[in-house]
Amino acid sequence: MAEKIGVLISEEKVYHRLDEMAAQISQEFEGQTLHLIGILKGSVFFMTELAKRLSIPVTMDFMSVSSYGNGTKSSGKVRLIKDLDETIEGKNVLVLEDIIDSGRTLSYLLEELSLRGPACLRLATLLDKPDRRVVPVDVDYTGFEIPDEFVVGFGLDYAQKYRNLPFIGVVSFE
Ligand code: IMP
Ligand code: MG
Repeated sequence: MAEKIGVLISEEKVYHRLDEMAAQISQEFEGQTLHLIGILKGSVFFMTELAKRLSIPVTMDFMSVSSYGNGTKSSGKVRLIKDLDETIEGKNVLVLEDIIDSGRTLSYLLEELSLRGPACLRLATLLDKPDRRVVPVDVDYTGFEIPDEFVVGFGLDYAQKYRNLPFIGVVSFE
């Protein structure tokens, strides 16, 4: 089966939205330091582009969980693969995710992180597929709400491919 990629959200639109999100976050955390936690690997592009636009001091750490195999459907299980390097106790934490689908990954992660005593715990996602939610998740900052389609690019993969596309694309199989 050949894969075809169509543009869903252009690079320009993504950057414009990141400008807006960064301005809002910088304003809400003015005078404070924000500890960014990127969920590997999908959120890396989102994280670096957002971080460059923040006008407040930031620190960064990464975590890796797995909820998907190489397919396009959730396995329903979440596994912690790489934990944070540093403590989040007393820090203003902003978790950055590429996309929220069923909500399983983030509900697991936020519950785990909340037990570690952060001063505050917020969530930003580049993309959200609200129609697919199985487990409720409180999202503080959303880039774009998208329909129930499998997307790639800007960090998101299909079988580890297409993360480097500069736009958000939809995969179709023909
Ligand atoms: P959830 O636990 O079902 O919310 O799944 C979230 C994770 O599934 C994301 O962090 C992505 O890694 C992956 N995912 C969900 N939908 C897509 C998609 O459309 N394209 C690529 N990855 C996706
Ligand atoms: Mg992910």
